[in-house]
Amino acid sequence: MAIKKKSEKISASTDAITSSLKETRVFAPPREFAKNAHIKSPAQYQKLWEQSVKKPEVFWGKQAKENLEWIKPFKKVLQWKAPFAKWFTGGKLNASANCIDRHVTAGLGNKAALIWEGEPGDSRTLTYQDLLRETSKCANALKALGVTPGDRVAIYMPLIPETVIAMLACARVGAMHCVVFGGFSSEALADRINDCGASVVITADGGYRKGAVVALKQNVDVAIERCPSVSHVLVVRRTGTLVTMQPARDHWWGEFLGRMSSHCPPYEADSEHPLFLLYTSGSTGKPKGILHTTGGYLLGAALSAKIVFDLKPSDTFWCTADAGWVTGHSYLAYGPLANGATIVMYEGAPNHPDWGRLWSIVEKHRVSILYTAPTAIRACLRAGDSWPAKHDLSSLRLLGSVGEPINPEAWMWYHEVIGGGRCPIVDTWWQTETGSIMISPLPGAIPQVPGSATKPFFGVFPDIVDKNGKPVPAGSGGFLVIRKPWPSMLRTIWGDDERYKQQYWSQVPGVYFTGDGARRDKKGNIWIMGRIDDVLNVSGHRLSTMEVESALVSHKLVAEAAVVGRPDELKGEGIVAFVTLQVGFSASDALRDELKKHVAVQIGALARPDDIRFADALPKTRSGKIMRRLLRDVAAGRNSNQDTSTLEDLSVVAALRADSED
Ligand code: PRX
Repeated sequence: MAIKKKSEKISASTDAITSSLKETRVFAPPREFAKNAHIKSPAQYQKLWEQSVKKPEVFWGKQAKENLEWIKPFKKVLQWKAPFAKWFTGGKLNASANCIDRHVTAGLGNKAALIWEGEPGDSRTLTYQDLLRETSKCANALKALGVTPGDRVAIYMPLIPETVIAMLACARVGAMHCVVFGGFSSEALADRINDCGASVVITADGGYRKGAVVALKQNVDVAIERCPSVSHVLVVRRTGTLVTMQPARDHWWGEFLGRMSSHCPPYEADSEHPLFLLYTSGSTGKPKGILHTTGGYLLGAALSAKIVFDLKPSDTFWCTADAGWVTGHSYLAYGPLANGATIVMYEGAPNHPDWGRLWSIVEKHRVSILYTAPTAIRACLRAGDSWPAKHDLSSLRLLGSVGEPINPEAWMWYHEVIGGGRCPIVDTWWQTETGSIMISPLPGAIPQVPGSATKPFFGVFPDIVDKNGKPVPAGSGGFLVIRKPWPSMLRTIWGDDERYKQQYWSQVPGVYFTGDGARRDKKGNIWIMGRIDDVLNVSGHRLSTMEVESALVSHKLVAEAAVVGRPDELKGEGIVAFVTLQVGFSASDALRDELKKHVAVQIGALARPDDIRFADALPKTRSGKIMRRLLRDVAAGRNSNQDTSTLEDLSVVAALRADSED
């Protein structure tokens, strides 16, 4: 099936981006797959895509009617006062009713909605009927705790069914959920709770990770000491860990929900009613609360889940993402559930108790679609073929990748070893801000090229431009922008419309600026080249260098810190910190370890630096700006060809190169 072409090398550059391409293998969609797919051919894709961007309101209006259930029909498809969009105005709907009730009404009450496996090996299956009952009880519990439409509820949980139930329950009562990744520290949790002013926190006594218990409730207790907005905490008993319950404030989920009615009429939300906030890293300042609203977001998640993953009623869909990331919102919960699919959820680490875990879950639950991140694929590749070989993976029919560029070697391994050479791979590019998949091959229609996200999804109008906003020629690198609004786009940054305008709509006036570099080849395939700002992509998760730097500087011995990424075989990017100490203190291995730990405590283990280099000074321009591009070269161990003419003191760089841990 693979058409292997002669290798060619294209090099191109703009002001900021250079690319070199070697990959030219093309994998046409398998004939059988295409025959049964929602979108069956390149011509069908092309026709629909052209219609969708020529007449977006006609396209989206039709899709919104066909894919969502409206309590009250919308009057207008789009109101666009750049850069603020309103989709499906006049319409009313409820996201949880769209994900649950309508399937129960359609007779699917006994269909498995959610198959869950805990890290220790325990498992539960919830039907759509079960999901309706539990979500309604949780929704009534939220009401009993004083939550009203528009309020914020923070969710800080392990990956257990109650996490999805809690999200859907918020949607049911019109409250906004704000899921905070359970791997984040109490500091990071408190910052997010304070930014959004959550009144209730939903958590668990603990969660299992690599055989140990993560003390979630304990972290919540520390966090909310400085969160005056929080009046109640709902605690799921997961691990049986001893926790302190503060009377009147803290309630056990089981007992509290046990007293609630299992009937809760869904809130009739305006299409533009806020659905959730999700924090993500930007290059400057504090994390941004990305705001998504009901109708547009849900349509984006539902339609892309159906078309990109070619979802059918018979599919068992496993998205391995944590609910703390946008992928866990759109493709663990909302997208597949809106389509009435069966989802699989796994609580723990992929290598617990060994590297066969993922494949044993695929085998046990007959997973047909697997959606994971390149970092996980590379880790499994490194662990060896013997692990997947022990399991029957024949239930798989489609594979997906998200979070960072997938290198062709990992793509080929995924294709051959996991997909048995028969499963198409969808390399899906999107962001927290875009809400749903924007660029991806459609598995029955678009030939896949390892390493390329290929073509835009329906209604998505991407372009690649130079710093003046001028489209660059095929083969040249540039900035990826989106020219037209789309339903699941972010509406703003919570409480900061100005920052929203600045960050996304001002770099190239009038178009959405993704912050990614990209290149389009002669066949029109798009290749994502990574972030162009100071944002790290560690294991497929965005981290701001700024946040890691402020965590370091908050240590009493640190005077100044600069953080950059360096290529990392497994994680995509590793974190390297350059640190100067307060006068009178000297560097040591013990301090290096202490600082790494300090960052992990301040932000979470994900942000722990891989390498810390001490220096007497950081390389700065005469105007005092740290020269990050230079530091990136130093971190990667590359000789630098950066222009150092503006550098204040050249000897600083030599000193930094010398102080390497490796
Ligand atoms: O740089 C791109 C990278 O991840 C960024 C978005 O991160 P986040 O908002 O955390 O969402 C991650 C999951 C959607 C993008 O700006 N990225 C995401 N998917 C891909 C990717 N880079 C290359 N290829 C992808 N398929």
